[in-house]
Amino acid sequence: MQPSYILSLENVDAYYGPIQVLYDINIRIQKGELVCLLGGNASGKSTTLKTILGTCKPKKGTIRLKGERIDGFPTKRIISKGVAVVPENRRIFPRLTVLENLEMGAYLRKDTAQVKRDIDRILELFSLLGDRIHQFGMTLSGGEQQMLAMARALLSNPEILLMDEPSMGLSPRLVDQQFELIQQVHKQGTTIFMVEQNANMALSIADRGYVLQTGVIVLSDTAENLLNSEMMQEAYLGERGM
Ligand SMILES: Nc1ncnc2c1ncn2[C@@H]1O[C@H](COP(=O)(O)OP(=O)(O)OP(=O)(O)O)[C@@H](O)[C@H]1O
Ligand SMILES: [Mg+2]
Repeated sequence: MQPSYILSLENVDAYYGPIQVLYDINIRIQKGELVCLLGGNASGKSTTLKTILGTCKPKKGTIRLKGERIDGFPTKRIISKGVAVVPENRRIFPRLTVLENLEMGAYLRKDTAQVKRDIDRILELFSLLGDRIHQFGMTLSGGEQQMLAMARALLSNPEILLMDEPSMGLSPRLVDQQFELIQQVHKQGTTIFMVEQNANMALSIADRGYVLQTGVIVLSDTAENLLNSEMMQEAYLGERGM
């Protein structure tokens, strides 16, 4: 029997107008996994997430969420089926408080009592946000906004959490803090697909990884094997001097 995947992309091609950006992408993610997609600038990482979310329509191939085809669905429908995202630029609501931002994450849920319990549970993990619960989003630091965006996404109770470069724009200390949080959220059972340029950091917490080069997946392996792979060092890590 085939293993059951939360999310799978099979032979996916994606274009912006006439320009092809993704070539024959195959990615499979099982329940509870933390999988990363690595690659340099313009390699197609964000486009992969946009294609999963339906904001960029695949021209060829199949995307499934828990076995059901979702390619071609409108983004709203894909989100309502359990795909949450922390986008590249975070996009929290600047004029809402931290608490209101969190509540927005759960706006599709009808189980209000459970939402309250989930907010309390999430604030235990994201304790820094608890201290700022009535502060406006726009007054948070970059690292705090990244935390809020992730906490808000988790409040939709997603089948899978997509993250676009959680380390972007954060100081090394905040990157450590952010990755520690991602690891804890993963340990509590959330399935995560994370896009990152910071390969060493991402692989240090991931189960598996894929490496994208100009729209093509050139490597795919366990995080441990990728960290020790010569090809990886040459193709990616070496190039960045990490
Ligand atoms: N809306 C768009 N219209 C046309 N081309 C686009 C559009 N968005 C992205 N591209 C192009 O698609 C390619 C892949 O972009 P993408 O944003 O997926 O890369 P990325 O790996 O996320 O890069 P970065 O690390 O800089 O975020 C790039 O060449 C980019 O210029
Ligand atoms: Mg990007």
